[in-house]
Amino acid sequence: MADQVAQVKQRTDIVAVVGSRVELKKAGKYYKGLCPFHSEKTPSFFVSTELQVYKCFGCGESGDVFSFLQAYEGMTFRESLETLAEKAGVKLEQYRPTGREAEVKRLYELLNLVKEYYHYVLVSHVAGEEGRQYLSKRGIDKGMVEKFELGWAPDSWDAALRYLVGKKGFTQQEVEKAGMAIGGGRGGRYYDRFRKRVMFPLADFRGRVVGFSGRLIEEGVKEAKYVNTPETEIYHKRELLYGIEKTRSVIRKKDRVLVVEGELDVISSYKAGVMNVVGIKGSAVTEDQLRLLLRLTRNVVLCLDADVAGDEATKRGIAVAEKLGVNVEVVTVEGGKDPDEVARAKPELWKKQTKKGLGAYEFLIERAFLMHGVGTGLGKKRITEELVPVLAGIANSVERDHYVKMVAEKLGVREEVVAGEMERLGTVGRVGEDEKKEKGEGEGRGELLEKHVWGLLLSMSGERAVKRWKELGDYRWRIPGLVKMAEAMDGWIEKHNKDFRVKEFVAILPRELLGLMNQVYLAQGLVEMDEEGVEREFGESVEELVRLGVMQRMKGVSREIGELERKKELSDGDEEKLRKLQGEFSELLRSLGVEK
Ligand code: CTP
Ligand code: MN
Repeated sequence: MADQVAQVKQRTDIVAVVGSRVELKKAGKYYKGLCPFHSEKTPSFFVSTELQVYKCFGCGESGDVFSFLQAYEGMTFRESLETLAEKAGVKLEQYRPTGREAEVKRLYELLNLVKEYYHYVLVSHVAGEEGRQYLSKRGIDKGMVEKFELGWAPDSWDAALRYLVGKKGFTQQEVEKAGMAIGGGRGGRYYDRFRKRVMFPLADFRGRVVGFSGRLIEEGVKEAKYVNTPETEIYHKRELLYGIEKTRSVIRKKDRVLVVEGELDVISSYKAGVMNVVGIKGSAVTEDQLRLLLRLTRNVVLCLDADVAGDEATKRGIAVAEKLGVNVEVVTVEGGKDPDEVARAKPELWKKQTKKGLGAYEFLIERAFLMHGVGTGLGKKRITEELVPVLAGIANSVERDHYVKMVAEKLGVREEVVAGEMERLGTVGRVGEDEKKEKGEGEGRGELLEKHVWGLLLSMSGERAVKRWKELGDYRWRIPGLVKMAEAMDGWIEKHNKDFRVKEFVAILPRELLGLMNQVYLAQGLVEMDEEGVEREFGESVEELVRLGVMQRMKGVSREIGELERKKELSDGDEEKLRKLQGEFSELLRSLGVEK
């Protein structure tokens, strides 16, 4: 396997692979271009023919041709290997898919086939008449039906099953695994999950169908308006962004994405010419979703329904986005109940509305004043209570000051009064420190992640927390205070072993750590998550932390390599050093999992 990876790599030119996706210009020994992993105006993304690696000095992304495809196309390592091997004419002889991989591959095939089946029924079959009528009534024309590959699930208990099992050779269990059938328990019969519904295929970043949502066509019946694929091996609701596989190139080009709620909001917006859009299917924006968007752009415009639920979702979305360093704007829908209505009735108004939104903080401030009213003392108190934590959370002090002024002015009080309230809550100074570190070559992200990991850890209890703690091994914390907290944690675990209780832990902490402790612990309260979510998030964050450390070391090593390479003549010692550094560089790459 390692041989073959090397062989594929040897026959592949990273410049060609990257160059077909990103515009590159030759610059000395390197090629450079605008980084596809973060948005920038001047190029800091370099590709080296010699080392066959890419690196961005702006955001720190780096790796080889395999990791490029993984990051850019959302492929797994295996998939990137297969893709490149095929192009390079290398036959991957030793490659045998594991049982699970083969199984998953069948699920993708199944879903793709059933998508075609539903689409055929909608477009060409008599049984699709109801669906056709409904869609045309909603202003969705043939072009959009084709573009979004919409379908119709017939009014039958087993149409999809008959097609998939009878005609395509899948088993009933497979159909169930893919989320398309229900039942079958205790020898019972299986039946189709989706019946008499307009079908929207749901695809992942790369365009593979992972599930469906189906919409009723009758109003006022008891059933749910939308039925969705449940969580399966390949369908994960929190990662899904409706339409992304179709709109991602426009999003990248425009360097901006509009986030709306529903499938029909996406389609109508697209039709109206605002095509850099994705849908979150009526739930709160998750971190996973924002991470996917970050592959395309840093500028996210939330455009959720103009109701209380929409406002809350926006608020939570802003909190998550802030954490990831996403630039958020908020567009409030006007002239209709949702983007679908506005985009359909007044496409020009929709275009205008979405051109520019409010800044996240402007939105939060406006909303607080609207909700509570500034006319009474109580109103003012509530506004302050709501906004002070928001203001204190603004990392950049110039920006923070700007909004403090704005709020003070609107409240009709002196700035110092608002600032005083912030002091009283005691959150300001510490945020400022992060900001300083942010400037030091992206270290800020690492620090934020460390705190996040601690926050998650502290929200677990008992054995779970201890188990997770042990997974961290001898991780070296960057934040000095966390080094101390880690020592305290080790001490606690040694003494109490399995039984972690955050309250008692806090009690034994030295006083000087309490500030930090509160900061990590309280920040966690902002994000609502269930146990499973916490565990998953913990695992992912730790993984990212480790990667980040490796990348920072890689940056240092590649800088040293660069310095040596620029020398006119290399002494023996230099040669030796260069070899060592190159060895270290590949070692680091390997540890990122880009070489097997
Ligand atoms: N949704 C869902 N399950 C439901 C209701 C809603 O998955 N039972 C998701 C759908 O993706 C839907 C989105 O949440 O598009 C927003 O819901 P809602 O505002 O109720 O519907 P609309 O998007 O307006 O849908 P439509 O225009 O078809 O009525
Ligand atoms: Mn709607």
